[in-house]
Amino acid sequence: MESPDLPTVVSINGKIMFKEEAKISVFDRGFLYGDSVYEVIRTYEGIPFLLQEHLNRLWHSASKLEMGFPFDQNNIVKEVNTCLGELGKENAYIRIIITRGQGPLQLDPVSAGSNNIVVITREFKENPKEWYKNGVNIIISNVERTSIRAIDPNIKSGNYLNNIMAFIHAKKQHAFDAVMLNSQGYITEGTTHNIWVVKKGKAYTPPLHAGILEGITRKTVLVLAKKNGIEVEQKNMTAEDLINADECFMTSTTKEVIPVTQVNNAPIGTGEPGPITAKLHKLYQDFIQQQIALS
Ligand code: PDD
Repeated sequence: MESPDLPTVVSINGKIMFKEEAKISVFDRGFLYGDSVYEVIRTYEGIPFLLQEHLNRLWHSASKLEMGFPFDQNNIVKEVNTCLGELGKENAYIRIIITRGQGPLQLDPVSAGSNNIVVITREFKENPKEWYKNGVNIIISNVERTSIRAIDPNIKSGNYLNNIMAFIHAKKQHAFDAVMLNSQGYITEGTTHNIWVVKKGKAYTPPLHAGILEGITRKTVLVLAKKNGIEVEQKNMTAEDLINADECFMTSTTKEVIPVTQVNNAPIGTGEPGPITAKLHKLYQDFIQQQIALS
């Protein structure tokens, strides 16, 4: 889908380089164990959107993994700005990765050296308009979401194998993406997005305790809905609730608000993107414009 040739600038521990030179040790624990945390942010008109929220979540993820850093958020902001300056694109994708560092081949994190900090910035190509116009189809995967008592999905760690397996499952069924259930059979989230259902004019999304990443787009949409008189509730839902919904949509930093019009190859509601989804996407886009105007 995406061109591999999009302009990209990387910083590794403060050293700026193009993607061809961007390499990290095979002894890095991020590579060996997925022992890392990350964030995905995007810019609109050159401004990293909700950067502070993403940095807060990065720190939250690290603290949940007992990964301490000998630097502060300002160091990261500086790296991000240097990369963006070099990249010189209005709309950029930013990935910040912090690993526990490199060390000998042993699990004990005490042996890890200093953290490796990687910032990848790349031109952001807008998503296909058809996704928003026609909606996308998802499947309910038989790959279960990890329990909050395992690696809590509310930690954005470098280990996404659970989500990768669900994504593979979706692709095998020619679907756009998958939604995972938890061990109690409740809906959690998609592989890189949060999921929402609309029934009788009210929007529902699973609660944190269902086992989800607390999406920053999700949080924003919850606030915008409440402010604008759309009823919202965080509630446990079953696969049947999704199948029988009037509308469904997904949210994420890179996707914003995408209508979901089919689940398991059957139409959701009318099978067309619904009015509440459209309204929430419009509110989200207006909010982006307001934020840009403020900065
Ligand atoms: N994914 N759930 C999961 C598992 C995610 O990986 C993401 C984000 C979200 C949505 O979070 P936010 O609204 O803060 O982007 C929910 C990013 C975009 C990614 O890994 O590419």
